[in-house]
Amino acid sequence: MHELTLTRPDDWHTHLRDGAALATTVPHTARQFARAIVMPNLAPPVTTLEQADAYRERICAHIPGGTAFTPLMTLYLTDATTPETIIAAAASGRIAAVKLYPAGATTHSSAGVTALEKVYPALAAMEEADLPLLVHGEVTDDDVDVFDREKVFIERCLEPLTVKFPALRIVFEHITTADAVDFVHAAPRTVAATITPQHLLFNRNALLVGGVHPHHYCLPVLKRERHRRALREAATSGHPRFFLGTDSAPHERRRKESACGCAGIYSAHAALELYAGVFEEAGALDRLEGFCALHGAAFYRLPVNTNRVRLVREPWQVPDSYELGDGRVIPLCAGATLNWRLVHEH
Ligand code: DOR
Ligand code: ZN
Repeated sequence: MHELTLTRPDDWHTHLRDGAALATTVPHTARQFARAIVMPNLAPPVTTLEQADAYRERICAHIPGGTAFTPLMTLYLTDATTPETIIAAAASGRIAAVKLYPAGATTHSSAGVTALEKVYPALAAMEEADLPLLVHGEVTDDDVDVFDREKVFIERCLEPLTVKFPALRIVFEHITTADAVDFVHAAPRTVAATITPQHLLFNRNALLVGGVHPHHYCLPVLKRERHRRALREAATSGHPRFFLGTDSAPHERRRKESACGCAGIYSAHAALELYAGVFEEAGALDRLEGFCALHGAAFYRLPVNTNRVRLVREPWQVPDSYELGDGRVIPLCAGATLNWRLVHEH
C-alpha cells in the first residue's frame, strides 16, 4: 500500500505548553489533528473555567490561517476542587474533561491530588454531570519502584474508583504495561485508555542501553519489551477503548540534557506518521483509522470529523530539532527516516 486516506484524526492527550512554545506546538498539532485534548499542567495549573477560557484564547491565536483546529480544554483536579467548579465547568460546555495527577507524579504535578478520598465530592459531581476523568495512573510512594508504579496504581486506585463511581467515564492515560491492557479489557465500558507513539515504538533499552538517552525519558517511563508488545497488540487490535493520545510534551533541550532531566517526549511534529509505521509493521493499517479517528470520538461522545487526511509512503527525514521559545526541542525520532508522510487534507 502506498497511500492511505483517513478521517482526520484527533489527539486525545497533548501538552501544548504556553507562551512562546505555542508558536511551535500549536501549528504542529493543528497540522496533524482536528481536535486535541489539552492538558492543564501549566505553572500555575489550569484549575478554573476562567483560566481554561483564557488559555484557549492564547492557543487559538497560534492556529495557522486556513487550518481548522479545536483545542478541547481540561481542568486540573486538586484537593480543593469543589463540586461547584465541576458543575459550572460541565454546564459551560467548554470543558471536555478533568485531569487527575497524583501529587508528585510528573511535570507540574505538585498541586495534584494527595489522597483520592479528598476528591470524592468532585468525582461525584463529574459522574453526575457526565464529565470524563483523565488519569495519570501512577502511585508516587517512595517505596514503589518506578517501573511498578502503574501496576500498583491499578490495584490501589483505579479499580476501586471504577467500583465507587460506576458511571464515571475514565481515560487511563498513556498506558505502558500489559497490566494496564488487561485492566482495560476487563473493565466496564466506562474505562478507556490512550497509548503514545513512544510506548509503541520503544522499550526501556532505548532509554538506558549505551548511555542514558534523556530524549527517551517520559513518565510513565518506558517498560520491558513484553509490555511494548502488549500495547502494540491492544492498539492494533481494533478494540474501541484503546485510542490515540500522543502525550507530546516538549521540554527545551537544556532541560532534558541535564543532571536532572525533565520527563516528556515531543511527538507533535510527526505523530500520525509514527503511528502509521507501527500499524504497518503489525500488518494492521486497516485499523489505523479506528485508533486515530473513531474510537476516541465515540468514547468522548463527540462527532467524528468529516474531512480527511492523506498519508503517502514516501520516506522523509525528521529534523534534528525545532525551535521552542528561545531554545530548541529535540523531537521523537530526531534525524531518523520515517516511511509515511502526511501530505494534505481534502
Ligand atoms: O513525560 C511526561 N511529561 N509525562 C507526564 O505525565 C507529563 C509530561 C509533561 O508535562 O512534561
Ligand atoms: Zn501527559
